[in-house]
Amino acid sequence: MTETKTSENRPSETHTGVIGRPIDRIDGPLKVTGGATYAYENALEGAAYGYILGAAVAKGRIAEIDTAEAERAPAVLLVMTHRNAPAQPDFGPAVTPTVPEVFTRARPALNSERVRYYDEPVALVVAETFEAARAAAGFIKVRYDEEPGLYDLPGHMADAYAPKRTNAGFETDSMIGDFESAFAAAPVKIDATYRTPFEHHNPMEPHATLAAWSGNELTIHTSAQTLANFRAGIASTLRIPPERVRIVSPFIGGGFGSKLIAHSDTILAALAAQVLQRPVKIALTRQQMFANAGHRAEMIQQVRFGADADGRLTGIAHDVWSAASSFEEYCEQTAVFARSLYVAPNRVTRHRLVPLDINRGEWMRSPGEAPGMLAFECAMDELADRLGLDPIELRIRNEPAQDPERGVPFSTRNLVACMKEGARRFGWERRNPTPGRTREGRKLIGYGMAAAIRPNYIGAATAQVAVDRDARVTARLDMTDIGTGSYTILTQIAADSLGLPISSIKVELGDSRFPRTAGSGGSWGAASAGSALHNACNALKQRILKAAQSSEASPLHGASATEASFANSEVRIGQRSAGLADLIRRIAPDGFEAEGSVAAGATTESYKAYSQHSYGAHFAEVAVDCDTGEIRMRRMLAVMGAGRILNAKTARSQIIGGMTWGIGAALMEQTVLDRRYGHFVNHDLAEYHVPINGDVPEMEVVFLEEHDDKANPLGAKGLGELGVCGAGAAVANAVYNATGVRVREFPITLDKVLPALPVIAI
Ligand code: MOS
Repeated sequence: MTETKTSENRPSETHTGVIGRPIDRIDGPLKVTGGATYAYENALEGAAYGYILGAAVAKGRIAEIDTAEAERAPAVLLVMTHRNAPAQPDFGPAVTPTVPEVFTRARPALNSERVRYYDEPVALVVAETFEAARAAAGFIKVRYDEEPGLYDLPGHMADAYAPKRTNAGFETDSMIGDFESAFAAAPVKIDATYRTPFEHHNPMEPHATLAAWSGNELTIHTSAQTLANFRAGIASTLRIPPERVRIVSPFIGGGFGSKLIAHSDTILAALAAQVLQRPVKIALTRQQMFANAGHRAEMIQQVRFGADADGRLTGIAHDVWSAASSFEEYCEQTAVFARSLYVAPNRVTRHRLVPLDINRGEWMRSPGEAPGMLAFECAMDELADRLGLDPIELRIRNEPAQDPERGVPFSTRNLVACMKEGARRFGWERRNPTPGRTREGRKLIGYGMAAAIRPNYIGAATAQVAVDRDARVTARLDMTDIGTGSYTILTQIAADSLGLPISSIKVELGDSRFPRTAGSGGSWGAASAGSALHNACNALKQRILKAAQSSEASPLHGASATEASFANSEVRIGQRSAGLADLIRRIAPDGFEAEGSVAAGATTESYKAYSQHSYGAHFAEVAVDCDTGEIRMRRMLAVMGAGRILNAKTARSQIIGGMTWGIGAALMEQTVLDRRYGHFVNHDLAEYHVPINGDVPEMEVVFLEEHDDKANPLGAKGLGELGVCGAGAAVANAVYNATGVRVREFPITLDKVLPALPVIAI
């Protein structure tokens, strides 16, 4: 069994190099001193400011739009509407079955009098100042021919249809054996329907763009997770070759999936800059982000388990109905993880969409697992309760020997080890299996746990690395750092590979002039960009070694040995060694350069031959006030098996961030869609509740020692989203254990708990 070695800030003990060490963020000082320039902070001579006016109805047509007064307003340079916006291609079909098409399709703005969702842009005002633009936008008069729209997921379940694929290209349905018969025959059954609400990402930095043309070359300073997606999407929308679009995004104030594709700030800034022949800056307001930057869709999930009396699953069914837009399909892969988590001979997973007159859902941190595990891992808790079995024991009894639906082995899978280690550290044995029995004065105390699983991806990536005569290294790739630590771990990877101090390494990211990567998304960033850089460093070392052996000016000339190494700023070949800087000065005063790449995982044999996921176990303790139903978190623990940890500190930060999302999903987060008019009512951070410091308890994160040699050359696996997966279910299960009240409609707010709380006399 895997030993637990790496915890919070201690480095992994089996790797002596710089990889794994909890070093501080390389970009930290720049960020805290204001030296990191974010998109909207870029200053360009002559830049004008745009302000977007959004539609006041959710469905209909613009019958009349009067912009005269806005055009006459002080300092206004341009008022753009569907009447005068540059021609753009049509939006295209509602169905976008292929993965590249989602990212590359044209996303025209102000190209039609049609309104498809509430607050869709209907006009852009550009002025000398932001204030002038915003004020003038208030002078625009719009008359709409409003049409009745559909906004109610539960009310329109009859319209549900099966899309061709889910997000990330998974099969919409999976079916093995005969679930219905197995379920009918099962001595123990759970049939639970859960509801999860609309949710919004709300990265700290809003979506913002500064666009500038120089001749027919367009430069976009923006906040992007994946530069290649922005480049392709803008090029399609503007009908120009991608090579003429440069995307610059060195610092990003969070994304969480909302910055995987370009939104209206980017498209409109590019169009207005073209019309005005001046740089144009546009940011979405916080309120506009709720309507225009994607969301996690509302869902209804039915989870059914059939089990024998010992808790062995005979059937698993996970059915998902999700709200969707009618103009572009997005099907969150909510039940896909259920195909790999537990063993059972009879299995069904299905995804259905209910088209509504709302904006499209988009990727939001842990797409699929975040809502899916919230329901599924609570249903497992319900099953354990019904069986009178410990929830960990139930999961152990259903641990598969290989991927239950693909029939291939796991690359690494330490779910059971995570649960056992977590139980030991958390003091799980102190949990009273009978709910509502643990009291501390007016507080009802509960413990809950849940499993975590998240697929491991690799995206195609290339990195370029150069070393100069002073042995200073520059690595360049169009990878992004969305706050996760990309700069830091890439610095560690290069330093480790080349045997140089981290102060000798400079990593440059966030510019589409650098080699293309898959960017930040799907938890693939570190492993994809990191593997490309690792391979680039290997190529660089080969070049240096070859020259060191063959050049007559080299102190290592003629050295031959099977063993060569780069360590302590030296190159060693067999028994002979030379300082790297000294060597380069003698043999290649201009230094060396190399490139390295990694192929998309889905195309490689090891991804076809192995089921690759990260795993974990979440534990939560809550206290519920027996009079008010108020739920307070007391502590949380996550034990994770996520391959080799590249930086113990940034990895831990990713997990505690994810656990915080779990608290939000379980207890707070919910965007309320007005079922009559189709707008998100609580569209700001005063009314969209997320956990703040006072809501977040002591959190402990433990990483099991792991190295996944099937995943990539680094042995690392994705973990940016793993912390979210199952975290909310652990909280919800703790609330049940505390109170005996099972709330199946998230978030679990006190009004849903209180009516069912037993009256307790003190
Ligand atoms: Mo992630 S939701 O793919 O940024």
